[in-house]
Amino acid sequence: MTGRLVVLASGSGSNLQALIDAIAGGRLDASIEAVYVNRRSAYARERADDHGIPQNFVPLGPFRDAYAEPRKAREAYDTALAGRIAEHRPDAIVLAGWMHIFTSAFLDQFAGKVINLHPALPGTFPGANAIDDAWAAHQTSGLERTGVMIHLVPDEGLDDGPVLASAAVPIRSDDTRESLEQRIHDLEHELLVSAVADLIGAP
Ligand code: GRF
Repeated sequence: MTGRLVVLASGSGSNLQALIDAIAGGRLDASIEAVYVNRRSAYARERADDHGIPQNFVPLGPFRDAYAEPRKAREAYDTALAGRIAEHRPDAIVLAGWMHIFTSAFLDQFAGKVINLHPALPGTFPGANAIDDAWAAHQTSGLERTGVMIHLVPDEGLDDGPVLASAAVPIRSDDTRESLEQRIHDLEHELLVSAVADLIGAP
């Protein structure tokens, strides 16, 4: 059965593109029902438009304006976004470079269905600067490998949760920050597609 995906992105959307390409190439039996972005300028929107996938810009800003307490604003945002996403009846929700930490107001509605990708090995370099952090560790203390992981998001733990797939990326002596990043992204795209296929039970 074709799996129903919803993809959430904040930036370039190269991982969204990897899913689009895998579906088009018959490597993933899924449909992307919708893309949601929380940044107006996210290039992921153009990728969705180019492939006829409905995309929606849903910013946190109006919720911040409406609630004095930041936590309340996040919970209200998460509840509103979850309501919209639930209408797509997703089998999996892919956080593909999604720069927003969900509260349980969102996560509890989609238990076992929210997937995140992190450009580092499990338990290492949580946060938005994982590649920079690994590169700095290579330069200062000789870190020899980093990696990629795809994991479920059961709670608010940052880049943490049951691991669906992970793989190492060796840091070569002739690497630059850019060449390392390129290999991490290439692996990320491949691993994401196979982890999504496994999760939704696609062939
Ligand atoms: C990826 O490296 C992902 O691991 C991180 O943000 C990046 C998003 O890239 N969380 P893209 O927007 O899919 O190109």
